[in-house]
Amino acid sequence: MRLIHIVFIITAQINLLQCLPQGAPQSACYTLMPIHGNNIPALTSEPLFRISLQNDVVGQRQKMRVEINSVINDLTIKGFMIQARSLQDGSVIGEFSAPQDRLAKIIDCGNVGNTATHSSTELKRNIVLEWNAPTDFIGDIVFNSTLAQDYDKFWVGVTSSPLKIVADDQELKNSISTTRQPLKPTYSYTSKPNAENTNNEDMIYNECGNSKTCFGIPNNCIQTRSCVSFTAVKVEGDKYIFEMRSAPRAAYIATGLSSDDKMGDDSVVECIYDAGSVRAMSSWTIVANGKFDAPRNGVAQNIVQLKEGRFENGMIYCQVERPALTLVNNVEFDLSKNRYYLLMASGSKLRTGSVDYHDINRAASASALNLAEISNIAAKSKFLLRLHGSLMVLTWIGSTSIAIAMARYFKLTWRRSSMCGKDLWFAWHQILVIITIALSAVALIVIFVEFKGWSPANTIHSYLGVITTAICFLQGLIGFSRPSPSSKNRPLFNWVHWFCGNAAHILSIVTIFTSVKLEKAELPSDVFDIILVSYVVIHVIAHLLFSLMGCLSDRKDAQKVTSLHMTDMSQSPRTQMIASVKQDASYAPFRKFILAIYAILIILIVISLIILIVLAPIKDFKSFFDYNKS
Ligand SMILES: *[C@@H]1O[C@H](CO)[C@@H](O)[C@H](O)[C@H]1NC(C)=O
Repeated sequence: MRLIHIVFIITAQINLLQCLPQGAPQSACYTLMPIHGNNIPALTSEPLFRISLQNDVVGQRQKMRVEINSVINDLTIKGFMIQARSLQDGSVIGEFSAPQDRLAKIIDCGNVGNTATHSSTELKRNIVLEWNAPTDFIGDIVFNSTLAQDYDKFWVGVTSSPLKIVADDQELKNSISTTRQPLKPTYSYTSKPNAENTNNEDMIYNECGNSKTCFGIPNNCIQTRSCVSFTAVKVEGDKYIFEMRSAPRAAYIATGLSSDDKMGDDSVVECIYDAGSVRAMSSWTIVANGKFDAPRNGVAQNIVQLKEGRFENGMIYCQVERPALTLVNNVEFDLSKNRYYLLMASGSKLRTGSVDYHDINRAASASALNLAEISNIAAKSKFLLRLHGSLMVLTWIGSTSIAIAMARYFKLTWRRSSMCGKDLWFAWHQILVIITIALSAVALIVIFVEFKGWSPANTIHSYLGVITTAICFLQGLIGFSRPSPSSKNRPLFNWVHWFCGNAAHILSIVTIFTSVKLEKAELPSDVFDIILVSYVVIHVIAHLLFSLMGCLSDRKDAQKVTSLHMTDMSQSPRTQMIASVKQDASYAPFRKFILAIYAILIILIVISLIILIVLAPIKDFKSFFDYNKS
């Protein structure tokens, strides 16, 4: 893969070298062919990238922004070459300013700085260039470019909408009234779709909300015309037409009709790309032992009919017809009468007899709808799921870890300070424990609200989670009914409290590990696992260091004590000795130092895990990078 990057760059460089005035034929600049001398032809399909201009009128000597971005969200561009050309004679016009970032550079094609190209193999999301209109030209121009998604995937002659260069301010003002978008004297940039160039217009969004109900991922992508996965439903007589389009590299896109917003007992229409053709299939979702499946086996395949199917620019496009009334797995689906949730899912692999894991994306509509009524659908919010995950991570990895360390190793530190009449370690232990109990209660309620009861997936995560929270509440009760230090029950209390605290903590970490496997959580399992394992390692190392410190200071302090007698675990020799003197056990500064490092690392881990939870599914972004690499 690397090699291909290099070849692309070298071939591009050779060609661009030819653009240099010294000796290179200017015609090389004019072909805009970045890959010279090999036989890979330019794509003739609709380009996946477009050029957007800040304005459609510009005065002489004025600056203007020119952007190159993808038609599809998040698709990256690997190479480009762009120049402004006169519509009268095709000559290269104007000059680009030196780019601010290292993604682009300016080269000379006949005249100084009139062409911009990429300057690294880095994948780029959005290229922003500044172009200066010439002083000696009046008339219509267009930006012409070669845009490459990859070494073997590029479009030559991708043009912007026309741009008019006018003589001076007066003429500029006159022309404003005739242009649809007023030219602001400040030249503040507003990104606008390439309205002029109807070739680049994505027709799929036309009629959304007018004659068809549209549903897209990510949320609000219909308004911005930038959906990665898209489904629309249109009524034609007693037939319902499902129109779907996948992300590039998808092997399927599927839309399910569901009585709720979850998988299970849903009738699914799939458009799959298999063996070079697009086909429509029907399947039925089942949930068993926490596993989701959507087998086609047992589902009549004549329920739906493919009206149109094509594989275009790496994307599956299909139109599938479904009668208003169907009987699937003995369940009646009456689209004209009943309301259904729409579930949309897409993935990059097929299995025999069903689609594979939804690794590209998936979403459920926020509400059940009557598909005969046209609307634009919003996806169900994932807020509660994310809140649950974030709170649990904050509680169990954050506050609990510190609470345990404080109670176990800091009883003999900060002896001279107190908070509200309590020892400092105890005050902090209590505060952190109260946070743990309160937040895990909220997180538990949140997840039950999200699922309106017990999670239908019925996973080990659910059981472990409930057990952990139960122990946590029990631990709270035990802690608050603590007998006095002189009570004969105190040693028993110490052991039970220690045991429950650790049991809950260990179980909670195991529970968090199991969340990675949950489809709903959509977590990037590799990264999430690595961070969790790092947490465990840091936790163990910190405890080893604290214990070692404890032993050392015990030994040192014991030398100062003449009589040794063991009473219980909290009454070590040093405790007895120091309890009377109100003095820190030895090595207190070092203990505090380790605690500080431990706390900082834990805060970093909590922050990164919460970021992964809140931004999930990051798989989406990743899959686009993977797509560009393969
Ligand atoms: C853009 O460049 C290509 C390649 O040189 C050329 O074939 C095409 O005619 C140009 N289009 C315009 C509008 O200049």
